[in-house]
Amino acid sequence: MKTKFTMKMKVNKYCSLIITFVLCVGLAGCVVEGDGFCGVPEATTIIDISHRYHSDMPAWESKDSLGQFLRLTRSISNGSLANFSEIKLPAHSGTHVDAPGHVFDHYFHAGFDVDSLDLQILNGPTLLVDVPRHENITADVMKSLNIPKGVRRVLFRTLNTDRRLMYQKQFDTSYVGFMVDGANWLVENTDIKLVGIDYLSVAAFDDLIPTHHVFLKDREIIIVEGLKLDDVAVGIYSVHCLPLRLAGAEGSPIRCILIK
Ligand SMILES: *[C@@H]1O[C@H](CO)[C@@H](O)[C@H](O)[C@H]1NC(C)=O
Ligand SMILES: *[C@@H]1O[C@H](CO)[C@@H](O)[C@H](O)[C@H]1NC(C)=O
Ligand SMILES: *[C@@H]1O[C@H](CO)[C@@H](O)[C@H](O)[C@H]1NC(C)=O
Repeated sequence: MKTKFTMKMKVNKYCSLIITFVLCVGLAGCVVEGDGFCGVPEATTIIDISHRYHSDMPAWESKDSLGQFLRLTRSISNGSLANFSEIKLPAHSGTHVDAPGHVFDHYFHAGFDVDSLDLQILNGPTLLVDVPRHENITADVMKSLNIPKGVRRVLFRTLNTDRRLMYQKQFDTSYVGFMVDGANWLVENTDIKLVGIDYLSVAAFDDLIPTHHVFLKDREIIIVEGLKLDDVAVGIYSVHCLPLRLAGAEGSPIRCILIK
């Protein structure tokens, strides 16, 4: 009984010694290799392409801005141990993502919520393009952009950025978005699976629901709206977008960054 116990102790000790040895040698080996950690380089430049949530930002079809969405429900000055706030925010506020259940009842009931969105599509190489400023995104405009096959993620910067629409209090229906023929052209002629845009809807106001239907009908394309694309050079980046894991939600605030 006693010998068995000491044997076990010895084996455990032996094992942890080996593990420590392997870890130390491994780490020592890769830390000296460069300024990264074990071959993973430090990100050089991170560009934040999410808007700050604040009460003066525009809200869908509202002329009064988003308004107060954060409320201190317990506070230190009122005798609580900590300050403690509650958030009440429309799921499609600021920089946000749409899930298929947003415009399809059957997808909503089948559970295709924001938590079902593929992180492989929301993260990876992306192209930031400037869209011609004189019209909405039609099939002709899409054609003129010459986006190569194989490009799976595109962020479309439009007149919305020049007009600073995301910085206005009032919702503006004259924003630029995809017309239904532009959306169809994208689906039929490109490999794009992540579509990013710089105002609260990917679809022009006049083609609101039909355009959403085109993008979301096959559950292959993910739409990110309300991106902050000011002062970012056109080009190739690595995009990283992470929605909140809100069960049952057809939309969610999303934090997106570009890494150069
Ligand atoms: C806690 O809330 C009070 C308002 O009751 C505020 O004045 C204070 O700055 C808050 N403290 C922190 C740490 O946020
Ligand atoms: C603290 O309590 C006072 C008095 O009840 C109230 O007027 C105030 O709104 C409270 N503040 C917070 C942050 O809860
Ligand atoms: C885009 O379409 C909207 C209506 O959805 C319209 O008000 C706006 O003027 C159009 N923008 C351009 C640049 O043509």
